[in-house]
Amino acid sequence: MASERTIRKPNSSPGEYLLELVDIEAGYGRAALVLRGLTVRVPPASVVCLVGPNGAGKSTVLKVASGMLVPRSGRVLVGDQDVTGRGPQRMLEAGLSHVLQGHSVFKEMSVSENVLLGAYTIKDRSEIADRVDFVKGLFPVVAQRWGSLAGALSGGQQKQVEFARSLMVSPRVVLLDEPSMGLDPKATGTVFEQVARMRDAGTAVLLVEQNARRALETADLGCVLDLGRVHIAGSAPDLLADPQLAELYLGNRRGAPGSTPTAGSAATPSTP
Ligand SMILES: Nc1ncnc2c1ncn2[C@@H]1O[C@H](COP(=O)(O)OP(=O)(O)OP(=O)(O)O)[C@@H](O)[C@H]1O
Ligand SMILES: [Mg+2]
Repeated sequence: MASERTIRKPNSSPGEYLLELVDIEAGYGRAALVLRGLTVRVPPASVVCLVGPNGAGKSTVLKVASGMLVPRSGRVLVGDQDVTGRGPQRMLEAGLSHVLQGHSVFKEMSVSENVLLGAYTIKDRSEIADRVDFVKGLFPVVAQRWGSLAGALSGGQQKQVEFARSLMVSPRVVLLDEPSMGLDPKATGTVFEQVARMRDAGTAVLLVEQNARRALETADLGCVLDLGRVHIAGSAPDLLADPQLAELYLGNRRGAPGSTPTAGSAATPSTP
């Protein structure tokens, strides 16, 4: 039977999470529910990574968090504010910025135009200038290629443009859906370094990745999705060190990836 463990950073106490998805049930139209009582919590200054096989519902979790999909039940909390049912614009205002799966730069536009799109809700020009300075400092390639056509950048560089765009609104939590998708190993390494830099610069990250091992090496906390809920959660180092988890989800497996874990695996990881 699937179990769920509360994830909590050492020294944090209830009420200190930036984002909480609590007992979420969500799906698409009349189809069966995709999320069935899922709970995920993101503490400040942390990277929380969701892993799971194709179709597990990882992107659906982020859509619920960013207001693209209204849950059938459960609550979405940003800080102590209940934002359940709000649409994407109001979720953005609450501090949740979503970088979608796949590539979303406008290739025919310049890097600067792409980044400034992220500031369309900000009226104050000096605030925009401050944010531009901030993202240029965080992502040197954005500064170096500011006037270039975005389509002339490599895939990994374009991903950094997307990150920069998402940070223009000073989000509390950035929702990153498969940022390494389609990138070669070197670009993947750079993208994960940038994810860590975003966290270190003060933005919490809820990260969805198929590249589970690499993502958990960057993350502070990890959650394994299965059957529409969090099957296992814990500190990322604990999850990486768990032999059964490694066999099932992290590429050490003898069988096919993505099958349902055994009941025994749920009881194995240490509690964070
Ligand atoms: N717009 C949609 N309409 C109907 N069903 C959808 C829609 N988007 C996703 N689904 C279904 O919801 C389930 C979960 O999809 P989701 O995209 O959340 O999975 P995922 O874990 O992100 O998968 P992947 O690793 O392939 O990105 C799948 O069965 C999928 O077919
Ligand atoms: Mg997905």
